[in-house]
Amino acid sequence: MKMVKLFPVSEVPENARKVVEVGSYKVLIIHTKGKFYAVDNHCPHMNLPMNSAKVTDDCAIVCPFHRSAFDMETGNVKEWSPWPPLVGKALGALAREKALPIFKTEVREGVLWVSEQPK
Ligand code: FES
Repeated sequence: MKMVKLFPVSEVPENARKVVEVGSYKVLIIHTKGKFYAVDNHCPHMNLPMNSAKVTDDCAIVCPFHRSAFDMETGNVKEWSPWPPLVGKALGALAREKALPIFKTEVREGVLWVSEQPK
């Protein structure tokens, strides 16, 4: 898997985040619990930006719009468009349930690298 060099890890301290362009993707880098995660910055529900998404203690990322939740390790859906009540479920039915694309990350000598394509 081809990796792309990003920036020194000090640019994204613990609990910080940053959006970077990798080829045609906008990738959201999140540093939490001592680890770097890289996810597509577009929610697969309605393609809205994820950069202000909440991260839960069990490393799920929750879209700020209709609160779809995705495992940040696998991208798998944990919950699909539950918000707002009733309306969210109807909106969820408009788009087929899809995983969030996840990118591989590596730290090499203090520099963060990310895969050019989702895992
Ligand atoms: S756009 Fe993310 S849950 Fe609807």
